[in-house]
Amino acid sequence: MRWPAEAIWEAVAPLLPGFTVEVLPQLDSTNTELMRRARTGQADPVLLVAEQQTAGRGRLGRAWQSSAGDSLTFSLGLPLAPADWSGLSLAVGVSVAESLHPDIVLKWPNDLWLGDRKLAGILIETASFGEGAAGARYAVIGVGVNIAPRPATGLSTRPAALRELLPQADAPAVLERVARRLVQDVQRFGAHGFAAFQQRFEQRDALRNRAVQLSDGTTGTAQGVDAGGSLLVHTAAGPQTISSSEVSVRPAAA
Ligand code: BTN
Repeated sequence: MRWPAEAIWEAVAPLLPGFTVEVLPQLDSTNTELMRRARTGQADPVLLVAEQQTAGRGRLGRAWQSSAGDSLTFSLGLPLAPADWSGLSLAVGVSVAESLHPDIVLKWPNDLWLGDRKLAGILIETASFGEGAAGARYAVIGVGVNIAPRPATGLSTRPAALRELLPQADAPAVLERVARRLVQDVQRFGAHGFAAFQQRFEQRDALRNRAVQLSDGTTGTAQGVDAGGSLLVHTAAGPQTISSSEVSVRPAAA
């Protein structure tokens, strides 16, 4: 695969001094690798791409399956010091969706969907680093996008693929399409938090006004997100605000 590493570097380096782009043929996981590096004190801004991951990770301890060429798997690592970290995964989702296509919707807290099928996922981890500025942590923002259709092996629903919307899409071109705006938006989040993204999220909120079921079995109707990115759900017991990323939410069967 030919990757536009230089073009991405030229677009991003002016925003992010010390930025580098690194593309490797294989890694266990781009998130795992950047977290390993952060723990050894490497906290420079980097966009790390793996053509293939052998141990891709998703939220809640799940695996993220992908194969070379059929998906884009990368992590952006950079020091970040927002006053409040809540809503970062939503802001990243907004950014990636807006760069890709108007029909892509966002499923709280960090999936990109096409219709009711998952197109992409986001996994954010942070590490403390050295003598960094007050409140700064090293953020590792991992994004996996299905580019070509994949079998539904082990999944309840067949995943969506970007080629359903953009037939010519390939992983290198998609990375070039999302990288600069992603860095800008992460920096905007660092300065202003989720409030700067709330309206943009609302325009693509896949769950809004839909019946949802929480992982503890509670059902209700999703009513959007608050200024901190928490999900608002009206349940029989009254309104609930869900902030924990450990809670999973899915549309309830009609
Ligand atoms: C999820 O859907 O639960 C999140 C999936 C995140 C996958 C990406 S692929 C690049 C980065 N490296 C990983 O191991 N995970 C993220």
